[in-house]
Amino acid sequence: MTRRTLIAGNWKMNMRAESAAALAKGIVDAVGNTPPVDVAVCPPSVYLAPVADVVAGSSVGLGAQNLYPESDGAFTGEVNAAMLTDIGCRYCILGHSERRQLMGETDKDVSTKLHAALAGNLIPIVCVGETLEQRESGTTEDVIAKQIEGSLAGLDEARAAGIVIAYEPVWAIGTGKTASKEQAEEVHVFIRGLLTKQFGGEVAEQIRIQYGGSVKPGNAAELLAQPNIDGALVGGASLKVDDFVAIINAS
Ligand code: G3P
Repeated sequence: MTRRTLIAGNWKMNMRAESAAALAKGIVDAVGNTPPVDVAVCPPSVYLAPVADVVAGSSVGLGAQNLYPESDGAFTGEVNAAMLTDIGCRYCILGHSERRQLMGETDKDVSTKLHAALAGNLIPIVCVGETLEQRESGTTEDVIAKQIEGSLAGLDEARAAGIVIAYEPVWAIGTGKTASKEQAEEVHVFIRGLLTKQFGGEVAEQIRIQYGGSVKPGNAAELLAQPNIDGALVGGASLKVDDFVAIINAS
């Protein structure tokens, strides 16, 4: 089963309008019209509009970093799936470890957002990952199993094939301590097994599983060469055109 690689840049809380548009233009120009992989950029929500104008009509997709799972109404400060689709988003990152840790997002919150994203025709990128303490205590698989089952609760086979999972070991995010290709592939295989149990093998084989956590131009090729690593969710390196494009070209 060949799954089309997805390289997505999670810009987190960085940039200003001018630098966001310039970064997006640099990526659009460098990637060209027929990249061998799917490419997306996920700016802060306030900069989705200027970046949407830059990537419109190009081969670079637009993604959000979060959404609020309600229809329009009295939810001050929030943005919903319909607004993200309206402005040109195709993807939405959900359940990033920073939101789980800093905003207390639970697996239940993530599954609610997952269903809202799908209802809004967005491709959800659902993040899971263990902390260093959990890995060192040998509970990685227990943690990942709980996150996958809780975050994908209520998802049916028909919709499951179109989602993306991002395995992001918390201890590798922003630390420069990337998981080895063996460590990453081992967890990706475990996740593929969970997806097979939940949705059956045919659907599980279609679901793309990205790796995230200190992906750089120097380690991207060996990670992306792994059979169950179907792309990368890139943080720091996505903020530099040359580094992000080098990761795309390493696919
Ligand atoms: O969502 C991707 C992010 O968490 C990875 O960050 O800086 O380790 O590539 P970074």
